[in-house]
Amino acid sequence: MKKITFTTEALEYKSAEDLDKTMQKLVNAAREATQRAYAPYSNFKVGAAVLLDNGKIITGNNQENGAYPSGLCAERVAVFAAAAQYPDAVVKAVAIAAFSPAFTVKNPVTPCGACRQVLAEYENKSGKPIKVYMTGNKGKVLMTDSINTLLPFSFDASGLLKIPKK
Ligand code: THU
Repeated sequence: MKKITFTTEALEYKSAEDLDKTMQKLVNAAREATQRAYAPYSNFKVGAAVLLDNGKIITGNNQENGAYPSGLCAERVAVFAAAAQYPDAVVKAVAIAAFSPAFTVKNPVTPCGACRQVLAEYENKSGKPIKVYMTGNKGKVLMTDSINTLLPFSFDASGLLKIPKK
């Protein structure tokens, strides 16, 4: 028996203004994307912005549905749109923000488990870590260097590749 230990860490910035210009732009794009969310059921508007290695920023937001489970989180809307338009680009960073008309979202929004798994797929695909910036609609920003930090022991799809290709 041996013990396997994962340590997790994040950097906390007091404000988006403490980030470099590119990442400030990314966080602002995620905050702006909250305003275009379709969230009539939860009223919790989430925005995500994906920075690609070709310099493009692709945004997404949560898209809810009257049949609740049919909706999709902002992070997956954004990263799937990015992959659909630029299939060969590498995802360098993702910013996530949230807005509620009812209260100030002070605490950074962290991605749900399913979105972490989806982001992990793109990290594995490129072999390069994706930085994740998490924030509310103002105030502090949390940053992790890799999806691995957010999702240790993620599902490893390499086991699926054993079926010989024709
Ligand atoms: N939501 C996201 O878009 N991203 C997250 O990381 C967490 C939750 C959405 C799903 C739903 O539309 C609303 O926020 C409330 O859960």
